[in-house]
Amino acid sequence: MGMIVLLRSARLSRASGLCRFSKSSKIDSVCRGYVVAVVVVIVVIVAERLIMDSYEEGENPSNLKGFTVSVVFSQLLGLVLIVLLSFWLGHYRGGFAWQTDLNLQFNYHPLFMVIGFILINAEALMTYRVFRNQQKYCIKVLHGVMQIASLVFAIVGIKAVFDTHNLAQTPIPNMYTLHSWLGLTTVLLFSLQVVVAFFSFLWPGISYNLREQLMPIHTFIGKAILVMAAISCLTGMTEKAIFALKTSYPTELEGKLINSMGLVLVAFVGIVLFIVSWSPWQRIPPPEERHIQLSE
Ligand code: HEM
Repeated sequence: MGMIVLLRSARLSRASGLCRFSKSSKIDSVCRGYVVAVVVVIVVIVAERLIMDSYEEGENPSNLKGFTVSVVFSQLLGLVLIVLLSFWLGHYRGGFAWQTDLNLQFNYHPLFMVIGFILINAEALMTYRVFRNQQKYCIKVLHGVMQIASLVFAIVGIKAVFDTHNLAQTPIPNMYTLHSWLGLTTVLLFSLQVVVAFFSFLWPGISYNLREQLMPIHTFIGKAILVMAAISCLTGMTEKAIFALKTSYPTELEGKLINSMGLVLVAFVGIVLFIVSWSPWQRIPPPEERHIQLSE
């Protein structure tokens, strides 16, 4: 639910970025932005309330104190992150285009990498906590579909940046920075994780014991990938700030915006990692699922 809200808000804020703020429309856009933000906050709170009600009905004895507040807070941070990113790329970096203007095509790179590898990926990690009372198979499929969606966004984001290097009148060398090495390693590890997870957890016929042994490795690598993606984004943002602002980085407001975005990203990833790692909030399988597992 939170993810749908985020993606909608991403589209809205991207659209407002595309229409290049003129002075007369600036106030209107800001008001619209506030209205959208307030509506989204209300929707998120109501949705989380409904989800919590379903927890209370279940037989799950987990101690969920503070869980809803943490999930709502994480969704708000994700929302702030996508709004700041869209505003930066739309307002300061000129908006978006595909192959007609390589400078604007570059902007799809940070947008899609953050949407795919930070926002959707993080939401996918939280599915087992947020939808804790649903059937395990449904959560597993949702988790897998979201991870494939992350990968699709990431591949388009990577294509965007490779095009800006390769199609430039004087081609720019590829893969020369630490950011690009770390970024590509993250993409490769993520792809490997998706393939291995598909054959380990969704492919029929794998024994329950083997799945149980692979699970801690899968969850550890999943969290490590989120951390690597966050570091890739932070190094990418710093690089872009230095390339674009040069000596005016210390004084330009855009520099402060980029730095703030980095802090919000760290806070978002931090709270998501806390939610998925805090042991009292782990999903406890309901009795009927335990029965299925024993008979496998
Ligand atoms: C998980 C997220 C990210 C990954 C996996 C990633 C990956 C990559 C890769 C593989 C390249 C090399 C392209 C080439 O050599 O042709 C690259 C370039 C670049 N990326 Fe990212 N990126 C990510 C996020 C970001 C973000 C958020 C920004 C912020 C603006 C950014 C800024 C840049 C810049 C400026 C370049 C060109 C310079 C360079 O090659 O380092 N990246 N990225």
